[in-house]
Amino acid sequence: MVFDCLMNPAGPYQLNLVRTERMNHDGFGTPNDVFDRFFWIVRDVCREQAADGWTPETDAAWTARIESLLAGSR
Ligand code: HEM
Repeated sequence: MVFDCLMNPAGPYQLNLVRTERMNHDGFGTPNDVFDRFFWIVRDVCREQAADGWTPETDAAWTARIESLLAGSR
């Protein structure tokens, strides 16, 4: 679901999904900032796995995508 949201960020479905899940998770006892951190954790693990294949352009693209998804789903 996180990869789907990151790969199709502009979709209203994805923005609403993240917004809804953020609220759901608050009900589960997962604070909003912890919920949002999940996306950055996925990025960090992918970076580790990609090793040399992770270029500055890759990093900039992931960062921009996550920032726009989190900003668009608040
Ligand atoms: C560190 C961050 C997160 C924590 C600690 C967390 C924790 C949990 C927990 C404890 C549940 C089970 C709730 C229950 O059924 O009692 C759950 C369910 C779920 N989580 Fe997360 N989650 C995190 C991030 C995310 C993210 C980023 C997404 C998707 C964008 C997501 C999507 C879901 C979905 C779809 C379910 C099934 C329940 C539902 O439909 O709301 N989670 N999560």
